[in-house]
Amino acid sequence: MCGIIGYVGTKKCTPALIDGLKKLEYRGYDSAGIAVVQDGQIVRVRAVGKVAELEKAVAQDKPQGTCGIGHTRWATHGKPSEENSHPHTDCSGEIVVVHNGIIENYLTLKEKLQTLGHKFQSETDTEVIAHLIEENLKHTRSGSHEQRLFRAVMKTSAELHGAFAYGVMWAKTPRQIIGVKNQSPLVVGLGKNENFLASDVPAFLKYTSKVLFLEDGQTAVLTPDGVKLYGMDGQETKVKTTKISWDEKTAEKGGYKHFMLKEIYEQPQGLEDTLRTAREDFGRILGLKTTDLRNIKNVYLVACGTAYHAAMIGKYYLENFAGVTASVDLASEFKYRTIPPAENTLCIAVSQSGETADTLGAVKKAKELGFKRLAICNVLGSGLTRACNSVFFTHCGPEISVASTKAFTSQIISLYALAIFLGHASGNISQKVFNKLYKELMAVPKAVADTLKIEYDVRHLTKKIYKSDRFIFLGRNVDYPIALEGALKLKEISYVSAEGFAAGEIKHGPISIIDKGTPVLILMPKNLLFDKMLSACAECRARGAFVIALTTPDGKEEAAAVSDKQIIVPQASEYLQPVLDIVALQFFAYWVAKRLGRDIDQPRNLAKSVTVE
Ligand code: F6R
Repeated sequence: MCGIIGYVGTKKCTPALIDGLKKLEYRGYDSAGIAVVQDGQIVRVRAVGKVAELEKAVAQDKPQGTCGIGHTRWATHGKPSEENSHPHTDCSGEIVVVHNGIIENYLTLKEKLQTLGHKFQSETDTEVIAHLIEENLKHTRSGSHEQRLFRAVMKTSAELHGAFAYGVMWAKTPRQIIGVKNQSPLVVGLGKNENFLASDVPAFLKYTSKVLFLEDGQTAVLTPDGVKLYGMDGQETKVKTTKISWDEKTAEKGGYKHFMLKEIYEQPQGLEDTLRTAREDFGRILGLKTTDLRNIKNVYLVACGTAYHAAMIGKYYLENFAGVTASVDLASEFKYRTIPPAENTLCIAVSQSGETADTLGAVKKAKELGFKRLAICNVLGSGLTRACNSVFFTHCGPEISVASTKAFTSQIISLYALAIFLGHASGNISQKVFNKLYKELMAVPKAVADTLKIEYDVRHLTKKIYKSDRFIFLGRNVDYPIALEGALKLKEISYVSAEGFAAGEIKHGPISIIDKGTPVLILMPKNLLFDKMLSACAECRARGAFVIALTTPDGKEEAAAVSDKQIIVPQASEYLQPVLDIVALQFFAYWVAKRLGRDIDQPRNLAKSVTVE
């Protein structure tokens, strides 16, 4: 996720900017840049790659000045490149902007600004902010430069749609930075004769621990002498500061003990950000000649690990909503099995990183077979996005923890969105059905936020069983891949044996491994298959298992009669229930591993991105 830093004070700002960017590196990024007001002009230095590259470029250009902004970019609009790196400028090069988030109406704004004569230099949504401020400044002629910039920024913010946080500097106001927050993070650090703007506290914690957390819709005006805060109506509001007692490492994790836990909690936001662009993006993808999705008859889903489990759920969605035949392959297997050539075939590759060697290999084979290729991916500019005809981005932000959590849920809802848009476009589902499914989909971020409340119960439950050397997870239908994912999550971070099965399969063999006290987690939301799951509980209990029923409020009583413990998650529609169920299992894995004292964010033998075959 992009990182913002700004400094205005009495000292030279470049060291504080570089320092801040280094502290924001943990958020993930592909390029970085700074801009400084020097002798009434903007000096801008940007570089692709690590902050170390920027530091080398800065050493050559040596921007001097006491007011500056910087940025680490995680590409969302336009590939990682120097032109697309922030800060971005207006036509005059006097206004510079750094931004985190997505400007949803940027294309409309860009076209409007272009007709007014504005020339754009990048593919980013951010650049429209700089040009829009330039345009709005033309209509705010009275008052000081500082007052004019403030009014132009207020007007600009009102014209932007989406979730964003941005920082602005103008060559004519060398003692002022303005920051705006709307649904993306932005904080202010208050120092002595110096103030800071940042996406996150670690960026300036070395200099000050006095922090002002901006609220959505607020605009902060920073000068060396102080900070003023304004609401959306332009009225000044009271500045309430907080004293931070975190050390730098805790601050990086937003106060959470591990990135994994932080990322579990980031899921409602990640889902909302992913869904925000779904209608427009799938509209574009479905309209593409290169994939001709409306005529697709067969789909091969390919992926590895957690992404493979999302792909498994995608098969249910595509067959049920889009009415196409879909099969799922582990990417490493797809590469080496015989696949008959077929017309109107689409290969969907699902990957967080977009750099997994096996998935890239599978896509290469799909290309050789003449299949169209669609990537569902979290990293713009990655190998996978280049190897496919079209891409849908999961906007859940960079995932730092090796164990994937928020990428998984964003992959599931992306596949759901794809299936219903495709089903609607091909006439497989009516407008009425589509509307209902779409409404249910849009309700998922809030339902996940409600599900997060079960952490305490799950944590408590693990106390009794965390020392078990074997865990079993059972699910059916769309919850079968969730059982597999729950087991994978647990084994990768706790190093104990965990297996997931389709509930109907246990009697065909796996039941023999159930012993007295073996914890068996049974996914049994109250839906059509609930009664079958009650039987699974009884079968396991009869063999001495410690049965934990994961159910919904309506199933609580019946589940309690056949299980030892219950985890109650909110009820969603049958096909979206997995997104809520997995949250409980993510907490489960986290708390077992935590109690065992494992290295949760960096489990042994594992890498975040597996770039070798
Ligand atoms: C598990 C995990 C891995 C990845 C797999 C694919 O928590 O993170 O199983 O899901 O290596 O990675 P991507 O999605 O980057 O292709």
